[in-house]
Amino acid sequence: MIQDSSFVLGGGIAFSEGPNSIVTFYRGYVVCVDGVCKGAFPELPDKYRFLQLYDYGERLIIPGMTDLHVHAPQYTFRGIGMDEELLEWLSTYTFPEEAKYADIEYAKKAYKYFTEDLRRCFTTRAVVFGTIHNEATLELMRQLESTGISSYVGKVNMDRNGGEHLQEESAASSLAATVDWLEQVEGKFANTKPILTPRFIPSCSDELMKGLGKLAEERGLRIQSHLSENHSEIAWVKELVPKSSCYANAYEMFDTMGTTERPTIMAHCVHSDKKEMEILKKHGAFIAHCADSNMNLTSGIAPIRKFLDAGINIGLGTDVAAGSSMNMVKTMLITLQASKMYYRLVDTDVKPLTFEEVFYLATEGGGKYFGNVGAFKDGYDFDAVVIDDSKMCSMRDMSIRERIERMCYNDADVIIKDKFVKGKRVFSNN
Ligand code: GUN
Ligand code: FE
Repeated sequence: MIQDSSFVLGGGIAFSEGPNSIVTFYRGYVVCVDGVCKGAFPELPDKYRFLQLYDYGERLIIPGMTDLHVHAPQYTFRGIGMDEELLEWLSTYTFPEEAKYADIEYAKKAYKYFTEDLRRCFTTRAVVFGTIHNEATLELMRQLESTGISSYVGKVNMDRNGGEHLQEESAASSLAATVDWLEQVEGKFANTKPILTPRFIPSCSDELMKGLGKLAEERGLRIQSHLSENHSEIAWVKELVPKSSCYANAYEMFDTMGTTERPTIMAHCVHSDKKEMEILKKHGAFIAHCADSNMNLTSGIAPIRKFLDAGINIGLGTDVAAGSSMNMVKTMLITLQASKMYYRLVDTDVKPLTFEEVFYLATEGGGKYFGNVGAFKDGYDFDAVVIDDSKMCSMRDMSIRERIERMCYNDADVIIKDKFVKGKRVFSNN
């Protein structure tokens, strides 16, 4: 079933029209022609009646979700070591684990756990950190390509403060390894693209940062990194780049903040002030908001409402393993809860995010990083997830809007039935 890339799905449809509104159709239709969405409809238009219809009845059909920030090599230690803050957590748990990916056999096995689970969750698009190791990162890309999910993947750059086992020898060798890796992946994958990945300023010398900025420009590549996650990290960056006016400006000084054509993703931005917001906006950067991670590492709560009001691009990231799961629906819930606590405990002028806004961030907000992605609109890539929530017993009739809200607050009995990326079914639970 469903081998062609042109078809119609019938079911309970929901997608964002914009940040403030969710369109729903009870027993509606969403049309895919050659992997591209032709729109969603309450009644199937005559011109699409010739297409094969797959009727999912009472099941829900929503756009696929984008995980804008996840660390593949950290997946196998998710959920442990969570009593530390960022810098101690990195040196105690994360760097020693990532060092193990020098061993390709270890990487093959661990990345299988990661990719198999990614295939099974709500995510249809992901932006992924690997490790500093070329061979392991290439293996990760091979495995990701085989899932059918669309992704950007980065070989990580680190030439300082990684300890004995997770540090490249010099800026020059890190850059040379990056060029090698880019050459190895060139033309190899349809859905898995390389992205330059300076881990964060404390891991990369000025020379390395400048070299990566230049490489991005020369080769038209995108960049991902971390920004203003934790107070000790921010103070450290100020010491390391004393001429910078703020952390975001340090990235700017090295030409790594990107452009609207090749936007940089900055994970976290928990403590970004007005000045950093202006820099992010100016460059068309995307913030990957990682609420679960920010709670777990006691980093704080990012004021997402302020970023939305300022018109900055935002999506959600699970940030495994500082975030404890790759479940985007769980990430949506923590995003909502965190914004409510920000309003209650930090600033009553910053209203909590609504469910509409968070659904938007998880789907089209992050999807925009990939182009026309994340909604059932005409001309968008056809990414969809079919959900069975029939085990969630209720004494009342629920609207489609209520059912997706309920799924977010309690997904215990929610089953993903099918998942599509660009019109291709990449997962089925039948
Ligand atoms: N900052 C630098 N590296 C990392 C990482 O692996 N996880 C998180 N959460 N923050 C980082
Ligand atoms: Fe991260």
